Amino acid sequence: MAILPILQYPDERLHKVAKKVESITAATRRLIEDMAATMYAAPGVGLAATQVDVHQRIVVIDVSETHDDLLVLINPELIASSGESKCEEGCLSVPGIYDKVQRAERVTVRALNVKGELFTLDAEGLLAVCIQHEMDHLMGKVFVEHLSHLKQVRIRNKLKKRLRETM
Ligand code: NI
Repeated sequence: MAILPILQYPDERLHKVAKKVESITAATRRLIEDMAATMYAAPGVGLAATQVDVHQRIVVIDVSETHDDLLVLINPELIASSGESKCEEGCLSVPGIYDKVQRAERVTVRALNVKGELFTLDAEGLLAVCIQHEMDHLMGKVFVEHLSHLKQVRIRNKLKKRLRETM
């Protein structure tokens, strides 16, 4: 397993739209293992392939307190959503920035697992938020893009300044 570098906002590659996984190969399984290791090491509760510069529809999530309940979503599709919730979100690609984002309270997602089996999952709470956040990444959207234009400008400036300071 390898820890993969995570693209940092405002990297343009975070805006690429991921392509559907046509077949789950050994390389796909290795990528998923590396994505999980990267997420756990960060630590984070979710990671989309987009964030490690692989533009395929793959997401890993683990919202358990014990970090032993890995959820893998390949080619996820939202088939239902309801309610509204506003939760504070953060993102491994936007370190140190947290803000509230409006999302659906409950979602139903259909995806393939690592074995290529189709399954349907009903989620609410943190898991529902996380699924929506990660699926946004696959569409090239970072959570800060749900915030006001002014906030986005401030965040971009702050992160660019931080990047300059570390170089
Ligand atoms: Ni994120």
